[in-house]
Amino acid sequence: MKKLIVGNVKMHMENPSQRDEYCQALLQEVSHVHTQHTIVVCPPPVYTEYFCRTLDASPIAVGGQDCFWEYYGSYTGNTSPKTLAALGARYVIVGHSERRTYNHETDDDVVRKVITALRADLTPIVCVGFLSMGDEMESVRVQVEAVLQACDAHNIHNVVFAYEPVWAIGSGHTPTSDDIQTATVFIRSLVVQKYGKDTAQKVRVLYGGSVTPDNVTEVCVNAFTDGVLVGKASLSPSRFMGIVRMVG
Ligand code: 13P
Repeated sequence: MKKLIVGNVKMHMENPSQRDEYCQALLQEVSHVHTQHTIVVCPPPVYTEYFCRTLDASPIAVGGQDCFWEYYGSYTGNTSPKTLAALGARYVIVGHSERRTYNHETDDDVVRKVITALRADLTPIVCVGFLSMGDEMESVRVQVEAVLQACDAHNIHNVVFAYEPVWAIGSGHTPTSDDIQTATVFIRSLVVQKYGKDTAQKVRVLYGGSVTPDNVTEVCVNAFTDGVLVGKASLSPSRFMGIVRMVG
């Protein structure tokens, strides 16, 4: 299966000149890369239109960093999945631990966003991982099963899960490749239980947390992890494309 390499640039590039520089550098870098894999970049929401327009003819797809669970209405400050799709975005990150922490998003909120995103023809990238110490895999099970329950056999293959242990985000530390494989295999086993093996093969399971060009081979190039969700390293177009190159 093609790997999915997603850059989440979070709340950076706080002025448009940094945005312009970033996109130009990204275009330059990607013109030297030959890859069979799918590359996605998720800019801050106000830059979605610019990124979609600027990267339109490139092999890089654009995603949102979040969306709301309604398409329109009195929801001040939220982003409609329909708007993201209309601007040309194809993916959207949902349930990132930073949103679960700072915006108090619950599993119910995440599930509603997943369903609305799917109906808007976006591919939701659902982040799962524990928020407090304890039985991590139990937290992951609850988060994944909430999404599996709400989806159905017709749309589950469009959902991407991203296993992001909170302690690995921005820390420079990653789990061992065995631990990542155990987690991604576990997430897929939950999909198998609910939807069967054939469907589960189509559901992509990524790893995220301190991924760099130096460790991506270790964390992602195995048969069970379908790609990576990259934070800090995606802020540098050369490092981000370095990751793409290492994946192959
Ligand atoms: P870092 O790669 O900076 O650890 O961030 C990971 C992440 O949160 C991606 O969504």
